[in-house]
Amino acid sequence: MLIFNSIQKLQNHLNSIRNQKETIGFVPTMGALHAGHISLVDKAKADCDVVVCSIFVNPTQFNDLSDLDKYPRTLEADCKLLEEANCDIVFAPEVKEMYSEAELELKRQKIEDKGWTNGHSVDFGTLETVMEGAHRPGHFNGVAQVVSKLFRIVEPDKAYFGQKDFQQLAIIRSMTKQLEMAIEIISCDIMREPNGLAMSSRNERLTKQERDLAGIISKTLFTIKEQYKSKSVAELKAFAEEQIRTVPSIVMEYIEISDSDSLQPIIDFKQSKSVVVCIAVKLGAVRLIDNVVLF
Ligand code: PAF
Repeated sequence: MLIFNSIQKLQNHLNSIRNQKETIGFVPTMGALHAGHISLVDKAKADCDVVVCSIFVNPTQFNDLSDLDKYPRTLEADCKLLEEANCDIVFAPEVKEMYSEAELELKRQKIEDKGWTNGHSVDFGTLETVMEGAHRPGHFNGVAQVVSKLFRIVEPDKAYFGQKDFQQLAIIRSMTKQLEMAIEIISCDIMREPNGLAMSSRNERLTKQERDLAGIISKTLFTIKEQYKSKSVAELKAFAEEQIRTVPSIVMEYIEISDSDSLQPIIDFKQSKSVVVCIAVKLGAVRLIDNVVLF
């Protein structure tokens, strides 16, 4: 497995193999890898001739600076896991390799480059005004900014993302389309802990007891999936709120029952061809998200 920190060196290598290797698969991550990330690498390995995984804690997508500071950084352990998964290339740049001082200064001043990624205009419309977009101002601009940079650097044929970040997937699909990037975006199933908790690097920051308690989040979603044919949207949202309230240390941020494509909340199941339930909660200082597609 090759490890690059420099954009130029990575690109030189990719250019030297691009003609012999038919497809390049790309798994962007922020590190602190777990079985969920490895499942993306496994899928990419099955589909592509060469797999690149990036490890970069992207400062521009954190609207809460203490969350950025506390984000786990475990590069050595991550590389070990990737080596075991037969990943071909790791790209682990420093912040200064990815961003100019001017770009970081813009973010620090909270002057968001809204709607622009690298000089190209993108408009996420109402996709970013709900759920994570509404609760984490500037988050998706930062995600689009770094993912568009990484896509331009790696130029993959296919890129793999976990369905846990359902809204992020919609934003990335929209960005790729608007920037006319010929990259197939592949969505991969959520991997879960034995108690149903969706795997996330943030779970590292939970105590054993909190991890156990957090099982209520997916349990609530799965019950909604079992019951949606006989209950209304309003009843199911009220049920979810009540369930989460049974664990006092978990605070609900939102529960939305939404159209899977537009991500706009629905009030009646007849309104949509495909529906997703998305939830965000806070458990102590840790923010957790999860979702389940109903149909
Ligand atoms: O999902 C993530 O880990 C990040 O948002 C991503 C896509 C790697 C961009 O920093």
